[in-house]
Amino acid sequence: MRPGTHAVAHATALLELQKLGVCYDPGPAAAAHWVLRDVDLAVHDGEFVTLMGSSGAGKSTLLNVVAQTLAPSAGRIVFNGRTVGGEGMPAQPGSGRQIGYVTQDDNLLPWRTVWDNVMFPLTLAGRPAASDVARARRLVEQVGLAQWSGHYPHQLSGGMRKRASLARTLAYNPPVVLMDEPFGALDAETRAQLQADLLALWASERKTILFVTHDINEAIALGDRVVVLCGSPGRVVLERHLDIPRPRDPETIFKAPTFAGHYDAIRGCLRGGGRP
Ligand SMILES: Nc1ncnc2c1ncn2[C@@H]1O[C@H](COP(=O)(O)OP(=O)(O)OP(=O)(O)O)[C@@H](O)[C@H]1O
Ligand SMILES: [Mg+2]
Repeated sequence: MRPGTHAVAHATALLELQKLGVCYDPGPAAAAHWVLRDVDLAVHDGEFVTLMGSSGAGKSTLLNVVAQTLAPSAGRIVFNGRTVGGEGMPAQPGSGRQIGYVTQDDNLLPWRTVWDNVMFPLTLAGRPAASDVARARRLVEQVGLAQWSGHYPHQLSGGMRKRASLARTLAYNPPVVLMDEPFGALDAETRAQLQADLLALWASERKTILFVTHDINEAIALGDRVVVLCGSPGRVVLERHLDIPRPRDPETIFKAPTFAGHYDAIRGCLRGGGRP
């Protein structure tokens, strides 16, 4: 960890990655391709963590491990003080509905309407309770899609599909939400609007969020803390608390007095490949 970074007390963490490692090509030690190695990260209940790092540093791999679509090759995942995954343990995708995952590609089912897409994870578990249906309806309204709920994904813009995907993930109320560059492919205005909407949703829902982005402004505007992964294998090279008061306006975040310091530290770290 670099000087000036902050150690995080593990005792109160909701989600902890301990000495996590992923090797995609386990074989003779010399040929092993470790993508992540010795990654330690503690995320607190209700915290918004933004995750940055060079392409190939293992950010998506890390989210896949947390979502348990991929089993780690070393280390363990602790959720609420309980080991839920680790070396030698079978993966439990979604970790028993504790984890929601908004992937870069929105993954909406093309033959289902917005409403049926949002309800899909809930109906998989059986007949949804009236309170779940009401919650889903409120989320569809909150993401601005009430009038589009009978439309199909191909009838929506990219931003609307992201909104539908976000509503679908929040509908089943997972305490932890993973987001992999969810706003990467959108125009600047749509992106700023979605960032503001996400902050408003997070303020009302208080989810724990792990959000991957390549955009330093976005990482600072959204996060309580930014974590930078770099190297090969990837490891945590910077953790920085973002002491900018909330509510925040992503469009004017650069005016915050401490913005420039955060920006320079993150950019320096990304450019230097994690070297101080
Ligand atoms: N299924 C796989 N099998 C083998 N190698 C993989 C697999 N998935 C990813 N990798 C490798 O793991 C490394 C990390 O990939 P990952 O997708 O996690 O990076 P990333 O940080 O998300 O990059 P980006 O910013 O480009 O999305 C890369 O070298 C990639 O080639
Ligand atoms: Mg990725």
